[in-house]
Amino acid sequence: MLELATPGASPSRAQVARLVAATNTAPSADNCQPFRFAWDGEALTIFHDEDRARNILDHRGRASQITLGGVAAALSIAASAEGFTARLDLTPGLPGTAWATARFEPLGEAAPHELHGWLERRCTDRRLYQGGSVPASVRSAIEGDAAGDPGCHVRFVEGCPPALRDYLLRGDGYVWHHDRVYRDIMRWFRFTQREIDATRDGAPWRSLGLDIPELPGLGFARSRLVQTLLDRGGLSRIWRYRLQTQLDSSAGLFCVTAPSGSPIDFVRAGRLGLFAWLRLNGAGFGVQPYIVQSLFAHAFAEGDPAPGTLPEFVELFRGGPATIARAFGLAANERPLWLFRVGLSPAMPALLRTKRLPVEKVLSILDSAPP
Ligand SMILES: Cc1cc2nc3c(=O)[nH]c(=O)nc-3n(C[C@H](O)[C@H](O)[C@H](O)COP(=O)(O)O)c2cc1C
Repeated sequence: MLELATPGASPSRAQVARLVAATNTAPSADNCQPFRFAWDGEALTIFHDEDRARNILDHRGRASQITLGGVAAALSIAASAEGFTARLDLTPGLPGTAWATARFEPLGEAAPHELHGWLERRCTDRRLYQGGSVPASVRSAIEGDAAGDPGCHVRFVEGCPPALRDYLLRGDGYVWHHDRVYRDIMRWFRFTQREIDATRDGAPWRSLGLDIPELPGLGFARSRLVQTLLDRGGLSRIWRYRLQTQLDSSAGLFCVTAPSGSPIDFVRAGRLGLFAWLRLNGAGFGVQPYIVQSLFAHAFAEGDPAPGTLPEFVELFRGGPATIARAFGLAANERPLWLFRVGLSPAMPALLRTKRLPVEKVLSILDSAPP
């Protein structure tokens, strides 16, 4: 039952706990959940967790900034379900510091956000899709969300143009080719149900879209030997084939663009990306982001690649944003910041879904906060 907030009231502790739990369903790279929340009775401060965010793919905090955008979108939707409007002050800055502060005002008679029922159902779907075509009504609702962020857009392309397909396939190899990228990703892979239940974070092996049962020794995938097999052995061909079939099964791709690659524009892209994701899941479409070939490529395009960048990938990634821009027909002032594939897909079984840390682990309530 929805409680109606009384005029002038702040959310109660129970309401804050519920809205933080709903906010924390927001996606993060590898489900690392890099934000913490503190409620003092007036403001909800959102802290960046430097240790959880540590990842070579989070160069200059860009993956965290995208994640913060999703957290901001989820918070505004979750607050509306508790009868409040959230006013957010976004300050993405140094790792480990406060990156946002939210204050709440009663919504009055206004209805909760239409997407509130989708926060907990949203998920990353890496299975094969069943093609389809994104309905015009869904696209125009997504465009409506983008209108709130001048200069930002969500662009769609049907199918996958050959140059973009080639770029996506070649870029994907970076994960296997680069020791540090592989290690950082493996830190968050969960290979047994026991590991999943104990940590409530990271990406369960089942969610990778490969139909592999729990097998003793799957954790061996963290080893250098498996990385080498993936990089140079037969496994790399299987993985590449998998990505090809994933692209072939999709309705197309979509890309969130912004006028610049500033931290705030990455946050805005993350916010819009989550609204689009929720709307597409709500319309029966599966969604899967591609971080390496979009977000990570920016570092190369801007001449600021992450330390330890492999020279053989520099040219590929440097040309990435232009390849994406051509495929989507972007205007000169549009920067492609976040890329996804999309396609019709049935609801995700519970077993394939990721978990979240319990709310008491992510939220601290100061003694001064009223009950
Ligand atoms: C910044 C960011 C980058 C991501 N990059 C990828 C990616 O490259 N490939 C992928 O399959 N999923 C990617 N994801 C999806 C996350 O792995 C996923 O959101 C997380 O594991 C939680 O699962 P859920 O989305 O099902 O809740 C990304 C998510 C975020 C927020």
